[in-house]
Amino acid sequence: MRVIRCESGGAVCREGTDRVFALLKKRPDAILGMATGNTMVPFYAEWVRRFRVEGVSFRRISTFNLDEYVGLPASHPASFRSFLAEYLYSKVDIDLSSTHVLDGCAKDLGAEGRRYEEEIRKAGGIDLQLLGIGQNGHIGFNEPGSPLDGRAHVVELAASTIAASRSAFPKGEEVPRQAVTIGVATILEARSILLLATGASKAEAIVAMVEGPQTAGCPASALQRHPNTTVLLDAPAARLLKR
Ligand code: GLP
Repeated sequence: MRVIRCESGGAVCREGTDRVFALLKKRPDAILGMATGNTMVPFYAEWVRRFRVEGVSFRRISTFNLDEYVGLPASHPASFRSFLAEYLYSKVDIDLSSTHVLDGCAKDLGAEGRRYEEEIRKAGGIDLQLLGIGQNGHIGFNEPGSPLDGRAHVVELAASTIAASRSAFPKGEEVPRQAVTIGVATILEARSILLLATGASKAEAIVAMVEGPQTAGCPASALQRHPNTTVLLDAPAARLLKR
């Protein structure tokens, strides 16, 4: 795991975009694993800004989202499908038919998870998996307790995750209590992984991920066993790291 401390949240986004765009220049048909959440908003804004000036094309890439809320239709404004459409897909030249999501409204969510992971395999696997991290060390929606060798599954969201997600939902609307996510083992199959974390609220999760034991108590700690993971941090997120 390579850990890089950047001078600001803006620098995290710029460094991350450098890496994504270098891949797109080398492999215009790259397969990207997409993350959502507040950390990704300025990151994707940087992609859009650079897309307009650098002429990198998204036309041939394919994408797979990490996760989705259970019971939320793709058309709901807080769905992760809508998130990507709003912050990225509507602003670049991506082919929407190559953007894949888990269906949180599927009747049989177990079968939906298996279908989705099979689709990732058939596509040839993820070249670059983007990740944020939850305050409790979750990746995707693999909450603490999720097995480190786990596949796609339905998860009960932690109270802290529900609280952190509230701002994305219309006022008065409840955040779903469950989500469907690809598993930690599936994330680890990506050929490269890029995790971004900014802000002091992530510091404890970051130190557990980087310096703690590999344990289901902090699903992100499994990234220690991945051969090609880069972590980009701002100073507040990195502040508890000893090494
Ligand atoms: C959600 C997503 C995760 C993301 C996390 C962090 O829980 N499922 O993929 O990493 O939020 O979000 P934020 O960047 O808003 O802190």
